[in-house]
Amino acid sequence: MGIVFDNKSKTFYLNTQNSSYVFCVSDFNTLEHLYYGKRIPSDDIRYISNRQIYSFQSHESRDSRAFSTATVGLEIATFNSGDFRTPSVIYDYESNLNANRLRYVSHEIYKGRKAVLGMPCSRENAECESLGILLCDDQNQLEVRLFYVVYYSENVIARHQTIKNLGDKNLKISKFASMNLDFYGSDYHVVTLEGMYLSERSNVVRTPIRKGVFKNNSLVGTTSHHKNPFMVLCDSCADEHSGNAYGFNLIYSGNFSEEIEVDRLGDTRIIAGIDDTAFCWNLVSGQTFSSPEAIITYSDEGLGGVSRNFHNHIRNNIIESDFAYAKRPIVINTWEPFFFDLSEDKILHLAKESKKCGIDTIVVDDGWFRNSIKENLGDFKVDKNKFPLGLKSLADKIHAQGLNFGIWIEPEMVSPNSDYYRENANTCALSNANEPLISRNQYVLDLTNDENIDYIVNRLKQEFDGVELDYLKWDYNRYITEASGLNCSAGEVYHRQVLGSYKLFFALKDLFKGALFENCAGGGGRFDLGMLYFSPQVWASDNTDPYERLYIQYGTSYAYPPSAISCHFTEGKCTSGRPSSFEFRYNVASFGAYGYELNVCELSDNEKAILSEYSSKYREDEQLVLSGDLYRLISPESNTFCAYMMVSKDKNRAKFNFFSINARGLTETFTLKLMGLDPKKLYKNQNTGLILSGETLMNVGIRLNDLFGKKRSDGYTVNFVALD
Ligand code: DGJ
Repeated sequence: MGIVFDNKSKTFYLNTQNSSYVFCVSDFNTLEHLYYGKRIPSDDIRYISNRQIYSFQSHESRDSRAFSTATVGLEIATFNSGDFRTPSVIYDYESNLNANRLRYVSHEIYKGRKAVLGMPCSRENAECESLGILLCDDQNQLEVRLFYVVYYSENVIARHQTIKNLGDKNLKISKFASMNLDFYGSDYHVVTLEGMYLSERSNVVRTPIRKGVFKNNSLVGTTSHHKNPFMVLCDSCADEHSGNAYGFNLIYSGNFSEEIEVDRLGDTRIIAGIDDTAFCWNLVSGQTFSSPEAIITYSDEGLGGVSRNFHNHIRNNIIESDFAYAKRPIVINTWEPFFFDLSEDKILHLAKESKKCGIDTIVVDDGWFRNSIKENLGDFKVDKNKFPLGLKSLADKIHAQGLNFGIWIEPEMVSPNSDYYRENANTCALSNANEPLISRNQYVLDLTNDENIDYIVNRLKQEFDGVELDYLKWDYNRYITEASGLNCSAGEVYHRQVLGSYKLFFALKDLFKGALFENCAGGGGRFDLGMLYFSPQVWASDNTDPYERLYIQYGTSYAYPPSAISCHFTEGKCTSGRPSSFEFRYNVASFGAYGYELNVCELSDNEKAILSEYSSKYREDEQLVLSGDLYRLISPESNTFCAYMMVSKDKNRAKFNFFSINARGLTETFTLKLMGLDPKKLYKNQNTGLILSGETLMNVGIRLNDLFGKKRSDGYTVNFVALD
């Protein structure tokens, strides 16, 4: 049983394979957090609670100084009720009493799970089990429900909460996070993924936490290029491979916030959810508001363990099962080779040459309905000068060549220079400022207004009538400013816009059933779990220089599995233009969902043959990318080398990658210990034929210069296969 309730001590034990999450109902019916970490038996651990009452603290009972919310761990932290730390929820019932005191009323434990209202969440699987807890505010007419879903094998707990207005007055919610978690002590470090456009998540930043508040958040309307809702809290002595580490992420694609507070006593609080800056939700009588879902995990295998737990959870329970472990298309995308300069002839020629390179999917990027970024978002009408016979004819011809057909759209935006904007200027943009701030020549479409959602769905339905679509690249190329929805208040507009985006995703998934959606937001500006729910892979960055991509992919892998990271073999034209060998480009791009983005028509026959070999090689190793366990060995941030391994679940196959980034002299003359293998198995190095036990490879290691013999390169892939 994943979830156990001990009636006597009123304690809940949420057990996964390797972790326990424990909290109890206090004598005052407050939910008191006791422990989260390595799996423990169901002992009564209420003794761990800090019952000391310090001066200036309020306590629950006049008769006894037994319990103060200011010192104990809490499952939900309300404002104005004696806990002086950062609250996880703040509400204001339209009455004269604004204390927020929530008391336990009842709970239920059940198989399966409930969905999250209007938002993506971890999917139900045969194993998952839930705990739902009802809390009431004894002075205001409302109820709060906390939901915990235990994903036993993945060592993940999913949390969200709802609030319902039971009275006839208005309930104003100014903060409603997805979770609160309190730890005793503060000898921790926090790890976040930092970056910006062209360097998304490439900077893995580790910071010791200190007294005060640390915040990891976004205010741009989406999760952004510069921040990510993934975060790790780990023991100060934990590293990549060992030590206690806790991972957090949100299944949410808008303004988010993760706060870490170390309080006056030196204890640590984590809050994760919708960012509350200017947030204010008016919950009218009878309505329910839901937070997005947060997922948390624990591992004693350090940061690597957190990543592997999350990778398993994302592949098993967030990405659609039809795609998660299925062979991915090897695409060629028209953006970098042609930008806006498209035509049917050009694409058909590209398709013909692509086939020779082992490519199976042609993706027509931006440019099919316009000539520049200055126009026509919102109209999405094929440019008949470029495609006189329309999209169906193009798709049919591509299919006739035995290839799949994919296309690019950016459905959440509108160009001021479009018919749709001209006809609906007052109702279609998410800003009603006199002259709204412009970015990439476009406005954000107001998705708080259902009419815009219906319009886009119908427009695309018409445009793609009869077109057999295998793949859809969904882009999003600006941040939100001056948001003001037609039908909603300023405090609601950012979240309502996210709900509108999800509505559009659900509708277009339905319209283009079976097509693989790839997410993109000007590169990797919306790489989050909300997007992965709809799209099994996300374009990681517009930076396709393989040297810089190493950092981006390595950083992204802390939170997201390689199969979710879309990586292309390109010319690198978009960014630095620095030269790199074919081999290096392949070795970097084969880290994730592999594809191409260069004009293969300009390659020699020999070069096309090399790409064809790469495509076949990728297919041979693809299962490792889709389902393997990732072990990061050397971070590119060492600025000299980078190395990682992917090992199959049965430990029979492994792929080892090594890169020399900035090394000088005889750089490969050192040893490296492999990881994740079965110590008892014998492995054959496919490059050298050398056979060694897993035990030896993981303890003695490999000597890199022996491995590669005389062949020197700046990047290698070596396969290890277990002998029967
Ligand atoms: C930004 C994306 O990241 C690119 O890959 C490309 O699709 C362009 N948008 C098209 O405008």
